[in-house]
Amino acid sequence: MKPSIVVTSRRSAIPASLSGMSGTETGRLFCRETRVGAQTLTSTASAMWGEQRMSARIVAGRYVLAAWLGAGTAGHVYRARDQLLHRTVAVKHVRGALIPLALRAARLSAGLTHPGIIKIYNIIEDRGSLWIVMNLVDGPSMARARHSSGRLPAEFVAKIGRDILLALTHAHEKGIVHGNLKPQNILMDGNCAVLTDFSGNQNPGLDFVPPELLRRGAATERGDLWSVGALLRAAAGAESALLYPVIDGLMKDEPAQRMSAATAIQLLRGWSTTNAVANGRTRRTVV
Ligand SMILES: Nc1ncnc2c1ncn2[C@@H]1O[C@H](COP(=O)(O)OP(=O)(O)OP(=O)(O)O)[C@@H](O)[C@H]1O
Ligand SMILES: [Mg+2]
Repeated sequence: MKPSIVVTSRRSAIPASLSGMSGTETGRLFCRETRVGAQTLTSTASAMWGEQRMSARIVAGRYVLAAWLGAGTAGHVYRARDQLLHRTVAVKHVRGALIPLALRAARLSAGLTHPGIIKIYNIIEDRGSLWIVMNLVDGPSMARARHSSGRLPAEFVAKIGRDILLALTHAHEKGIVHGNLKPQNILMDGNCAVLTDFSGNQNPGLDFVPPELLRRGAATERGDLWSVGALLRAAAGAESALLYPVIDGLMKDEPAQRMSAATAIQLLRGWSTTNAVANGRTRRTVV
């Protein structure tokens, strides 16, 4: 049966905004929340970021669009209510020439099951439109978190760096390269990072593209690792010197010389723990 699509995107000059930090849909085994510096960040965030309400419209007779969350190169993203399963989801609307790329990205994510990777629930194609239904991450992207708070504390950056590397390790073990790592594609579920928009080929902002891709053009696992180093450096800003061994190790120009994900995870874990103890906290900040 053809899905009934009665939704059209409502465009707005107001920038994307997100609210809330509950993060109920992401498993906590992978990412236990703890009181690191980001706690301040998240509580500030929920107070600061409102979200644009929109009149209810229905996709495929099932998903009631409730609020516009933001827009990227491919389309618009909405908070929606799944009337059939009684849960809140995110729905991305893509149109025209970008549909094949968006479909490919969704299929890559759909092949992966990990709490640090977005879950694809459904895909609806209709009359030149593609609707991607996924789990709602109830927090800002890393880009928005960084802009709103000025900088992210190094301890928090170490924590999300570890999350990102664990999720990537899972993808790489399945032979899937992210290829599109940039702050906009790291969503913050409370204090935990969730990867979205796998592309399988590298097309992020220039700051996050590994040097070998600028020369030859094939996305690789080691290219992803370089991008993680660049993400950590950008996120920590002036504090990135504190994470220097990891950032430098991941960002080696020569892919073969780059630090492995396992080593980086270990160093970030050790760094967070040592730092937490030094700051008088007894709870470990990482799993
Ligand atoms: N599953 C989700 N849950 C909550 N917010 C989301 C979800 N997916 C995307 N968003 C938010 O929607 C907005 C638009 O995302 P989108 O992926 O379309 O654009 P982008 O990541 O900025 O750029 P690009 O199109 O290059 O990926 C961003 O603010 C993003 O944080
Ligand atoms: Mg994106």
